[in-house]
Amino acid sequence: MAEPERNDQEWALQRRLEDVFAKLGEKFGDLTGRVETKMRSTVTFDDVGGLQQAKTGLKGFALALINPDLYQQWGIDPPKGVLLYGPPGTGKTKLAQAVATASHAIFYHLKLMNLTSKFGANTGDLLQEILRIAMAEGPAVLFLDEAEALSLDHLLPPPQAREASARLVAALCEKLDALSTAARILVVAATTHTDALDPALVAPGRLDHLIEIPLPDAGAQKEILELIRVRTEKNAGRPLFAKIDYDKILPVMGGMSGADLSVIVRRALEVKVRAAAERADVPPVCTEDLLDAIDSYKGVRGVVEKIRYGQYL
Ligand SMILES: Nc1ncnc2c1ncn2[C@@H]1O[C@H](COP(=O)(O)OP(=O)(O)OP(=O)(O)O)[C@@H](O)[C@H]1O
Ligand SMILES: [Mg+2]
Repeated sequence: MAEPERNDQEWALQRRLEDVFAKLGEKFGDLTGRVETKMRSTVTFDDVGGLQQAKTGLKGFALALINPDLYQQWGIDPPKGVLLYGPPGTGKTKLAQAVATASHAIFYHLKLMNLTSKFGANTGDLLQEILRIAMAEGPAVLFLDEAEALSLDHLLPPPQAREASARLVAALCEKLDALSTAARILVVAATTHTDALDPALVAPGRLDHLIEIPLPDAGAQKEILELIRVRTEKNAGRPLFAKIDYDKILPVMGGMSGADLSVIVRRALEVKVRAAAERADVPPVCTEDLLDAIDSYKGVRGVVEKIRYGQYL
């Protein structure tokens, strides 16, 4: 998709941020793949299928960035943070981006698994610096992705991990507590493992709004499949799908996430690409094609599970 045109001011800001982060990288170590900033996010709430309740809640948080006075008029401070929790591949990252788009905020994507793997307990100092930068640059969504990594369980044996993690979370909380209303920063954290999360993070005045992002039900799966269809057809500039019989598809997709669905449609389209390399007049993707793709995806998932549980070792 073509990026909307940027104005000079935005370019200058982008350059300045790149400089600041390059300096931060010199001080701490390479941030590539660990911190990504987007001056202007393009994902919208309409790109997210299902999750009506979550979307409504998150639109309210976007409001806190656009119009914090509205909260003040009702005698409360705007929220500082929200935690999205739920299984992998359900749209958490997409939703966080949509909040940034809706509020015209800079999107800072902090990949905590990658950050903590490199910086360990020092990640706290780095996060403080990033918050400081974000505060100086105007409305921001600070996305703490894979927040469970703050537990440092993947790095250290349990007693050390607990101690180092407590320090790290304390550093983060200190900054969260100090965030003033004027800062116009919304922290959105995401996790698939609520049990690994430090309760201090979700204490009142911090990430004290919790929003569940569940697996899609059949209705939401249909919405997601339609979104994928529209997106791929727009990319291709032509229709790619025949009329899909959802009564046949949905019953065999129970428990599948949006990420699973996008892989399945991709597989069905890859089959078409291969066929088109051989002959002209390849028909569009039909219900049977999708059923085949679902079937083979389930087979592959079975193998992945076997590898995970060591049955091939
Ligand atoms: N509700 C949804 N609506 C539209 N697309 C979705 C939805 N859920 C998942 N997807 C698709 O699945 C992919 C993964 O979504 P996303 O990265 O937002 O999930 P996530 O919850 O952040 O996953 P993880 O926990 O693994 O980080 C997206 O690229 C998107 O195409
Ligand atoms: Mg994600």
